[in-house]
Amino acid sequence: MRIAVIAGDGIGPEVTAEAVRVLAAAGGCEFHHLPWGAAHYLQTGVTIPPDGYETLRGFDAVLLGALGDPRVPDNRHARDILLGTRSALDLYVNYRPVRPLDDRLCPLKGRTATDVDFVVFRENTEGVYVGVGGRFKPGTPDEIAVQEEINTYKGVSRIVRHAFAFARATGRRRLCMADKSNAMPDGHALWQRVFAEVKAEYADVEATHLYVDALAMWLVQDPTRFEVIVTNNLFGDIITDIGAALQGGLGMAASANLHPGRTSLFEPVHGSAPPLAGKNEANPVGAILSAALLLETLGRTGDARRIERAVEDAVRAGEVTRDVGGTLGTREAGEAVLRRLR
Ligand code: NAD
Ligand code: IPM
Ligand code: MN
Repeated sequence: MRIAVIAGDGIGPEVTAEAVRVLAAAGGCEFHHLPWGAAHYLQTGVTIPPDGYETLRGFDAVLLGALGDPRVPDNRHARDILLGTRSALDLYVNYRPVRPLDDRLCPLKGRTATDVDFVVFRENTEGVYVGVGGRFKPGTPDEIAVQEEINTYKGVSRIVRHAFAFARATGRRRLCMADKSNAMPDGHALWQRVFAEVKAEYADVEATHLYVDALAMWLVQDPTRFEVIVTNNLFGDIITDIGAALQGGLGMAASANLHPGRTSLFEPVHGSAPPLAGKNEANPVGAILSAALLLETLGRTGDARRIERAVEDAVRAGEVTRDVGGTLGTREAGEAVLRRLR
């Protein structure tokens, strides 16, 4: 398997190095490191080269660390490299599983790890992320700023259908669609229409709807309600940070940006965490579990499960970084997983 590695900025290179070591131990992977990120952009003026997306399509998968650097305040490079790839490779499914690996990691009073076990399907190619909009008279008292949310029938249908199909295939039969159709009656009426259409085809799935604000409340109040959540790009971004908190913190959360059957991109949910960069403090688990999602997606389910089990064992043994109550550095926490894999 040929894997493109974009380690990126901040803690990206540190956590990605651990994910790469784990994939190397699983075997059968050939890594191609791409230098794209803030430093490369500041040196060359290039965020991603003109043939960059084509280059990525030539790999079996892409592994990404994180992008974001205070020296690039407009985040231009992250928009081109990360959001650009999601769009150019049409990675319409952002799959973010939420499951604490140990009771200790669940922050909710009176709850245990088994109370939190759901997956989020975040629409990943449209919504407010399309870059449609502009600013009129910027920097003046008359400034007008517009950032449109785009919802297409094709885009909404394919993510909602994907979530329902997953629910049926995995036996996680409780599905919740979250939108804000009360406040956004035009854009989100489309979500309502599609949801009703697809729901009618899936009598075996217990499908409910929540406004996203209520969903945010219920995620904290009673996460046992949820098995499969499907929502739009922005809401999915926000609720998966809540999801990360429910599994111990951003350092624990993994994600897959998928177009089934095509080159897909795998990355931890967290960002570049600039204050932690270069200190060997960042938690590599989210990156390692994203590597496991990569193997699973490419059909290597056994290897993926082995990695997940090794991570789970290391977490239960407390061989983890400080953000989740351990004392280890990034590299040592990676080593704790590797030792179990070997
Ligand atoms: P962040 O995820 O980088 O950090 C939020 C908090 O979580 C911080 O307290 C940080 O220390 C902690 N944290 C995150 N990852 C951790 C890890 N692996 N181990 C331990 N602690 C961890 O989010 P932010 O501070 O809002 O953003 C920083 C930069 O990252 C911004 O430029 C943002 O745009 C970017 N970002 C990038 C991605 C991505 O590339 N996929 C995702 C989110 C944010
Ligand atoms: C994520 C991140 C990105 C997003 C940022 C870096 C643009 O927060 O992947 O969750 O909003 O999608
Ligand atoms: Mn996010």
